[in-house]
Amino acid sequence: MRFDVITIFPHFFDSFLGEGIVRRAREAGIVEVNPVDLRAFTEDRHRTTDDRPYGGGAGMVMKPEPLFKALDSLSRHGGEGPVIILSPRGQVFNQRVASRLASEERVILVCGRYEGIDQRVCDRADMELSIGDYVLSGGEPAAIVVMDAVIRLLPGALGCGESAETESFSTGLLEYPHYTRPREFRGQGVPEVLLSGDHKEIERWRRRQSLRLTLERRPDLLDDAALSPEDMAYLKSLGYKGGRCSS
Ligand code: ADE
Repeated sequence: MRFDVITIFPHFFDSFLGEGIVRRAREAGIVEVNPVDLRAFTEDRHRTTDDRPYGGGAGMVMKPEPLFKALDSLSRHGGEGPVIILSPRGQVFNQRVASRLASEERVILVCGRYEGIDQRVCDRADMELSIGDYVLSGGEPAAIVVMDAVIRLLPGALGCGESAETESFSTGLLEYPHYTRPREFRGQGVPEVLLSGDHKEIERWRRRQSLRLTLERRPDLLDDAALSPEDMAYLKSLGYKGGRCSS
C-alpha cells in the first residue's frame, strides 16, 4: 500500500516513519509513505500556499492552484487512489473506516492548514475525514493517526506476538484488562482466574470485563456490538436498559 501525503511540513512525518511498527512495515515493503511538499507546486517567489478568503473574515484559505498541481502530478504517477482531506468538518474516522482504507492500493491524504481549503479542492476530493471533535492547527497529526491505524491492519505489519484482532473496537467492545508479572505488585494481586489455566473461564471473564468497561465508558458502542443472550443477561445484571441481541 502507498500513502502520498500533501503537506507544507513534509518533515513533520520523520519520526512517525522512523520508529516502531511503521518503520518495520516500510522496511518490509508492506507500506510506502511519500510526504509531498506542497510548496514545490507553487510558482511565486514566496512559494505562497494561502490567500485571503473571498467574502472577508478572519484567517487564510489554502489556494487551489498548488493543491491541484500536486494532485495532478500524483495521478500521473501510478494512478490515483481515493483523495482524502483531513479536516475537522469531515466524517469521523473510526476502526471501520481504517479497515476500508486498508484494502486500498493507494491513498492520497491532503493536510489542511490555516482556516480551510478552497472548496474547489474539496470538491475534487473523495472525502473529508476528521479524527475527532476538536480543532488541530493542521491536518498533519490527523494524517499520522489515520496512517498508523491503517498500517497496523496491513497483513504482516504486526509481529507474531501482536494482534489487531482482540483489540478494542475490532470486537465492537472496549478491551478487557491485561496483567503481566509480577504476580503481586505494591500489594496488588492479579485476578485469580487468570492464574487458573482454565481457558474457558478466562475467556468468560475477559468477555465480561469488556462488557462492563464498555457499559461504563462507551455505552454507545453497545448499540452496534454483536451481543449474545449471555452477554445481554450479564449487561442487564449491571443495569443496562437498552439493546437488541444477536444469538
Ligand atoms: N485538522 C484540524 N483539525 C482536525 C481534525 N479534528 N481532524 C482532522 N483534521 C483536522
